[in-house]
Amino acid sequence: MRSRRLVGTANSRLPLPLAGRGQGWGYAAKGGDGRRRVGASTKASALAPPSPTPSPRGGRGFERTSQILLVAIGIAALATGGQAAETPRYGIGRTPTPAEIAGWDIDVRADGAGLPPGHGTVSDGQAVYEHKCAACHGDQGQGDPMDALVGGKGTLATAKPVRTVGSYWPYATTLYDYVHRAMPFNAPQSLTPDQVYAVTAYVLFLNGIVPKGAVMDFRSLPRVRMPNRNGFTSPDPRPDVPRR
Ligand code: HEC
Repeated sequence: MRSRRLVGTANSRLPLPLAGRGQGWGYAAKGGDGRRRVGASTKASALAPPSPTPSPRGGRGFERTSQILLVAIGIAALATGGQAAETPRYGIGRTPTPAEIAGWDIDVRADGAGLPPGHGTVSDGQAVYEHKCAACHGDQGQGDPMDALVGGKGTLATAKPVRTVGSYWPYATTLYDYVHRAMPFNAPQSLTPDQVYAVTAYVLFLNGIVPKGAVMDFRSLPRVRMPNRNGFTSPDPRPDVPRR
């Protein structure tokens, strides 16, 4: 986007803020033809003038006020937008470096896309687990004080389902993503890819999903078949969900 210009000058033709800036904002906007376009949400009423008295409906009133505030901020941003694109005025911000983007781009998808190079064995994983995980998840992954990572097989359809990596998670790749992203809880993202692969292998081993000799890497991990892999698919058994 090179510059943002106001369409027309009359107020009635002023495009309302945030229109066309991607989805998610959901504000109604008037197009160049002056007709109202409504975005993802139907909160067109956000554009009505503020009520002088507080809304009797409490929460809604607050929501409306904050929407009006956002609209006002948007108008301010738009008013300076055209100029800002041509003449940088603030001198702040810069394009992130590839290394900086890589620091955020850590998601690993179900099919394994995003898994980094590296590998780890079950026995290396046992060492990582004992040092970095057992204090919170139990020496065998049984949980206590925190979540159990092992067990619960066959409990999902009972009155007391025990949801663990072994009983519940449909993809082994998610274990890599989650452990790398969030664990150990007190030092997230402190593990190397090899350590994450290894501890992933060990947790899968504790669940009886991979053998003791297993080596996990970006090829083998997506091939691990999780016991509950098909537990999330239709048909949805709830009686109030219509059959397709
Ligand atoms: C300081 C305590 C602590 C340590 C150490 C720790 N965890 Fe956790 N772990 C937690 C807590 C708390 C949660 C729940 C977080 C949540 O629900 O937001 C959790 C959740 C998890 C889960 C998701 C469980 C589920 O089914 O929802 C996995 C998997 C996991 N941890 C693996 C590990 C691994 C592997 C390590 C070692 C590398 C580790 N954790 C170290 C506290 C810890």
